[in-house]
Amino acid sequence: MTKKILLSGIQSTGTLHIGNYFGAIKQFVELQDNYDTRIFVANFHSVTTIQDKEKLEKLTREIVIDYLACGLDPEKVTLFLQSSIPEVTELAWYFNCLITVPYLMRAHSYKDKVANGKEPSAGLFTYPMLMAADILIQDSEIVPVGQDQKQHIEFTRDVATKFNHTYGETFKLPEAYILDDVSIVPGLDGQKMSKSYGNTIPLFAEDKDIEKLCMQVVTDSLSPADPKDPETSNIFQIHKLFLNNVEKEELAEKYRAGGLGYKEAKEMLAESVKKFIGPIREKRKEIENNPDFVDQVLKQGGQKAQAIASKKLLEIRSKVGIL
Ligand code: TYM
Repeated sequence: MTKKILLSGIQSTGTLHIGNYFGAIKQFVELQDNYDTRIFVANFHSVTTIQDKEKLEKLTREIVIDYLACGLDPEKVTLFLQSSIPEVTELAWYFNCLITVPYLMRAHSYKDKVANGKEPSAGLFTYPMLMAADILIQDSEIVPVGQDQKQHIEFTRDVATKFNHTYGETFKLPEAYILDDVSIVPGLDGQKMSKSYGNTIPLFAEDKDIEKLCMQVVTDSLSPADPKDPETSNIFQIHKLFLNNVEKEELAEKYRAGGLGYKEAKEMLAESVKKFIGPIREKRKEIENNPDFVDQVLKQGGQKAQAIASKKLLEIRSKVGIL
């Protein structure tokens, strides 16, 4: 039986954090055996925020190494850079000509940036159509992401429907794959963990930094003796990501029983984070020391993804009337 097509990507705009891992990458790794999995670095998208050549090149390569260190297996997964498929920018253009300005103005990502006082570039504004092109040019069926990308997948479905209606059946409608438990991983301050909020635990942090960051998790002022509600404890909400169900319940019970102070709870959190990050950080160092391997993975993945996309684009061009 042919496998369903799974596709997802991450922007190369900063260092990955545990929100990216639990919200997205973990699912990529878990699903890679059962889906025709295609994972990329969204480096065209990154240009909306990073306009520094060296920085963009470095961050883009780092995400590839991060993916491999997290367990994406290039034997199973097509791993590539978005820039290996310049065809997506052409498809995004056709979508930009179909979608309206008022529709794009509804995008949360755009509204948030404007609300934060940023002057939006046209690239930022049309960003969701480039994402739609990434997804649709490969006939993707499922797209594992965190909650913050849900609206973008809805936009993708809408523009696919509009295209199909205008030019005839061309695209499948993809489904978002979002796990409830990890759809919004909280940061140190309890808001969504995000590079732009400065509240992250980097995915490959050194032990000393992990200890320091865990001590910064924001809490209320209950004393050690007080019983605590794990559901509202920010420390617990982060800690549970690293635990299996039995461990999670045991820890929740400790919170409820009272006698667990926040200092101790943060130290326990730091231990769990270090135990998880240690091995992948070591693996990452090995991969980083093998640039030829990384080049090879990107070359193979890029060629494969580009061949698929260019074939699809020919079909699209003929439907649109582009000679
Ligand atoms: P990006 O780079 O902002 O984030 C990458 C992935 O990490 C998830 N994520 C989180 N999940 C749970 N809790 C959090 N605190 C958290 N922070 C980040 C995001 O939801 C995302 O899944 N537009 C996309 C990149 C993209 C893309 C695509 C994704 C471009 N083209 C095509 C899928 C398909 C983005 O900016 O993600």
